[in-house]
Amino acid sequence: MDAFHLVTQVDTVETLKQPGMTKICAPMVRYSKLQFRTLVRKYGCDICFTPMILADSFVQSAKARDNEFTTHKEDQPLIVQFAAKNVSDFVDASVMIAPYSNGVDLNCGCPQRWAMQEGYGADLLRKPELVKDLIRQVRNRISKPFTVSAKIRLLKDIRQTIMLCQILEKADTSFLTIHARTPEMRNEPINLDNLKLLRDHVQLPLVANGDIKSLESAEFLFKESRCEGVMSARGILTNPALFSGYSTTPLVCVQDWLDITSSISTEFQCFHHHLVFMLEKILPRKDRVLFNSLQNKSSVLEFLETYYNIRPNASNSTELTRCIFNVSNVQRKKKYIDYTSEDDSPSDILGNIFNTDS
Ligand SMILES: Cc1cc2nc3c(=O)[nH]c(=O)nc-3n(C[C@H](O)[C@H](O)[C@H](O)COP(=O)(O)O)c2cc1C
Repeated sequence: MDAFHLVTQVDTVETLKQPGMTKICAPMVRYSKLQFRTLVRKYGCDICFTPMILADSFVQSAKARDNEFTTHKEDQPLIVQFAAKNVSDFVDASVMIAPYSNGVDLNCGCPQRWAMQEGYGADLLRKPELVKDLIRQVRNRISKPFTVSAKIRLLKDIRQTIMLCQILEKADTSFLTIHARTPEMRNEPINLDNLKLLRDHVQLPLVANGDIKSLESAEFLFKESRCEGVMSARGILTNPALFSGYSTTPLVCVQDWLDITSSISTEFQCFHHHLVFMLEKILPRKDRVLFNSLQNKSSVLEFLETYYNIRPNASNSTELTRCIFNVSNVQRKKKYIDYTSEDDSPSDILGNIFNTDS
């Protein structure tokens, strides 16, 4: 093992190139955290992404690093997604996280206004030379099989999207995830025709993303798009066992969530929101309204015990990896802004986040 890599050096590109569909849990701000990744890996996820992390905060603030990143030894293959707009932040953040992950991903798809105004996310789609530079500089610093990838949306003009992908291909990008919507699109269906066109013109391993709600829809997208992998976000939030073929969340998966969150310290909001999503399709409406309004862990546990006769199995705490980040090259110090901590109720989350995804 070299100094950069403390995790096993899984070759994610090789995984993607193997025959068969590679199943991937999407980056989701607030949600694709360690506890959820542990859950979905039990149900057939081959690769997990962290939520998007602001590279500059990560580099400059120990508090940001503690808040935004935790892992344990089973948490791999793991891709850490960063929002970055300059080379030094992306390279520094990538070098710091490399020992604890299998790759980094550049967010080029977040359409939210704050991100676009700051030059992050989908704003990068119009700056192919910058994206190329960001990726190439990390590639030059960290050797393979560590991956350097990007997650993009389609541009309105498919020729420009193809051009962007071809530029990134030349920059030795490891793979690309395509959320097959433009930044302007919200909940309308994905543009499968343009995804197929992109496939025809790009040799890199591709991951298709958008509207996967079941194993069947994942297999359909895999077959139609001819991409190497498929990624789910909202579908896997409401049913973390989706890739195992369950059509709705099985109770055994809810049980697993109770066990995982008993063994890894979890904030109430995270614990509860995930249950709100998981039970969305299986609890009758009137019970759901009650469940969604619960305010503390003991009332949630009491509800689940009464309703489903399930309770957390006593378990030991999971040992987390003690991450020691090398900050010797980082001199600047800025205040860490926690952009994920607005105070929302589950219904706000369902209403807002799902419509304005990153
Ligand atoms: C709650 C939530 C949080 C998200 N956070 C991120 C993120 O951190 N980074 C990112 O690239 N995309 C993010 N997205 C977008 C998803 O990764 C995905 O591209 C999008 O939801 C389309 O996939 P789906 O149809 O399977 O939901 C988020 C989506 C949701 C619903």
